[in-house]
Amino acid sequence: MTNFKITSIKARWILDSRGNPTVETDIYCDNNFARAAVPSGASTGELEALELRDGGKKFNGKHVAKAVSNVNNILANYLKGMDIREQNLIDSKMIEIDGTENKSKLGANAILSVSLAAAKLAAKLREIPLFKYLYELSYGTIRENYLLPIPCCNILNGGEHAGNNLAIQEFMILPARANSFSAAIRYVSEVYHILKEILSKKYGKQAINVGDEGGFAPNLSFTREALDVIIEAIEERGFSLGKEFILAIDAAASEFYNGEKYEIDGKQLDENELLQYYLDLINEYPLKSIEDPFDQKAFMGFTKLTNKIDESVQIVDDDLTVTNMNILRKAINQGAGNALLLKVNQIGSLTEAINSAKLAFENNFNVMLSHRSGETSDTFIADLAVGLCSGQIKSGATCRSDRCSKYNQLLRIEETLGEKAQYPTNFKSWKNFQ
Ligand code: PGA
Ligand code: ZN
Repeated sequence: MTNFKITSIKARWILDSRGNPTVETDIYCDNNFARAAVPSGASTGELEALELRDGGKKFNGKHVAKAVSNVNNILANYLKGMDIREQNLIDSKMIEIDGTENKSKLGANAILSVSLAAAKLAAKLREIPLFKYLYELSYGTIRENYLLPIPCCNILNGGEHAGNNLAIQEFMILPARANSFSAAIRYVSEVYHILKEILSKKYGKQAINVGDEGGFAPNLSFTREALDVIIEAIEERGFSLGKEFILAIDAAASEFYNGEKYEIDGKQLDENELLQYYLDLINEYPLKSIEDPFDQKAFMGFTKLTNKIDESVQIVDDDLTVTNMNILRKAINQGAGNALLLKVNQIGSLTEAINSAKLAFENNFNVMLSHRSGETSDTFIADLAVGLCSGQIKSGATCRSDRCSKYNQLLRIEETLGEKAQYPTNFKSWKNFQ
């Protein structure tokens, strides 16, 4: 007889992809266990749940010994004996023990590591793949066929993720017309390597150094330079732009906002000028998705831009809404954006992340699953993208194991599903699922 009761929990620190410590937790029901690790952002939103770090000298203040101890000495005692299949109860228990709005007592990193590990172990003990378990958790039913996500691959890095002068943080390519996820990720890989050659020839070898998310970080200064070189790579491979590939950016504009103006392309733009800047880009390029176009407090800017674009373009809320249902509700009410970026560690528990995604879908917002710039080899978000039928995921470039691990997990899921795997035809393909 399988025991579904939690018998022990053990957390530790490990290193993330930037070499900073992060929390990893093992959760046990007798001898069965599952493990999860939490990621960490660099361009974090101010209202994100708190990532607890120790301060002091160890790891230059970034150690997570307190968060680890909070799992081992507090959460473990409270959660022992709970049914691993009761994700909702496990998460609400942890939120209750923490007792703060932003999980600042125990740390969102402590709570999330347990939350994700619990879901993995429940799926394992029920002998179903994690993505199926997550679908059931999200929608309360089971299904046969699943939607694989479009990989939104950040192949050229700027902003806080790179040592260059590009204001825009992420330049992404989306293989929107592939027949399958595996074909899609192959196309990206092909373009990525052609881009490497072009950058090297044009700008020298230093241009092929990579940033935090595996994309190249050439020493460019202008948004259009970056978009043009990406287009060159797509076309050199023989793909047609606007059809087989569309483009996306994450401006992460809070990072180039000085409190009054936006500093981009050597200019200082006010909100209206920046809005026009994006509209011009949309006109000139097959740019179909813009994330965080304005500062994280600039709801009005998001609303104005959303009102100016047609349905084929996405305005994605990341730092604006930080995967938080209450803030997302505000964005929905104000028409600020039309898509949610879903980062589990921004909110700090699986249940809350799922609820945010569902709120988004119910209000006709798209949902893009997302990694963080500091990652581990944990592949949870790949299963969550399929489980939610989100239809989109961003996990960086097709380079570096911390980025590829998620895409590789999606390849495995596609293989498991065989003919029951479907690939999106557009951003709103999720509408036919769920
Ligand atoms: P972060 O960046 O993980 O450094 O916050 C990712 C993003 O802004 O989407
Ligand atoms: Zn972002």
